[in-house]
Amino acid sequence: MSDPVKDSPFAALRWLLDAGADEALLEEPVDRFAPVPARQVPAGLSEEPRRTATSMLARPPDERKIARNAEAVSLSTQPGAARALAASCTNLAELKKAVENFDGCDLKRLATRTVFADGNPEGRIMLIGEAPGRDEDREGLPFVGRAGKLLDRMLETIQLDRTKVYITNVLPWRPPQNREPSPEEAAICLPFLRRHIELVNPKLMILLGAVSVRHVLGLTDGIMRVRGRWETYQTDSLAVPVMPTLHPAYLLRQPLAKRLAWRDLLAVAAKIDESAPSQGV
Ligand code: URA
Repeated sequence: MSDPVKDSPFAALRWLLDAGADEALLEEPVDRFAPVPARQVPAGLSEEPRRTATSMLARPPDERKIARNAEAVSLSTQPGAARALAASCTNLAELKKAVENFDGCDLKRLATRTVFADGNPEGRIMLIGEAPGRDEDREGLPFVGRAGKLLDRMLETIQLDRTKVYITNVLPWRPPQNREPSPEEAAICLPFLRRHIELVNPKLMILLGAVSVRHVLGLTDGIMRVRGRWETYQTDSLAVPVMPTLHPAYLLRQPLAKRLAWRDLLAVAAKIDESAPSQGV
């Protein structure tokens, strides 16, 4: 029987391009949605009670526990493995180590650094962007490039800075050429982000841009429709008010839209004021 790939490799390549493939990552295809074999999930892995941000940060990462869990989960490529590993982390230091040790997302192999977070989790104001860009990939911190500088200036206008807010991204690794994450990549990284949110236990979140809104809230409406409107991030244990706003990289390209972002920030400032009037912003 004829083999279409061997007989006509260019036709096969054309077919892949037409199907949307834009990059060759591995020799063999990987099914990232394959169920995780039961034996890979370590016994006894379960959600532990939530702790305060202070106590979470006070304790150093339990390296042996993470290594044990990582081994048991066999750091494979499926979102289920990421979920089990994330659930086993009981503080931010452990989660950071777990993300850094996780080898199940190909983006990691293409990135220079794992970008976990920056700022102060105890401020309990959490900002979530899309993914590291070139500067972030080089420095290992979120929002340190041009968009990050603008973000810092935006925060300053409502008397916030990185000593008061905590910043992370949907993805901890830079996608090549800053492309949007694929649904598979996002599905693999999301369990880490969800656990990240749980451990920070924010009193308020700001989502920067459409990708963040899509993955954190599951809203696929255009960012212009959802920005400026309070939403709730709801889980079994959390109900966090969320303000979706425009991504600072977009504002660099469309400076006139800054007035919309300004409005969103004022709503955030008012909400903070409401929850802690004596500290006001
Ligand atoms: N854009 C993002 O979404 N995140 C970063 O960390 C930098 C740029």
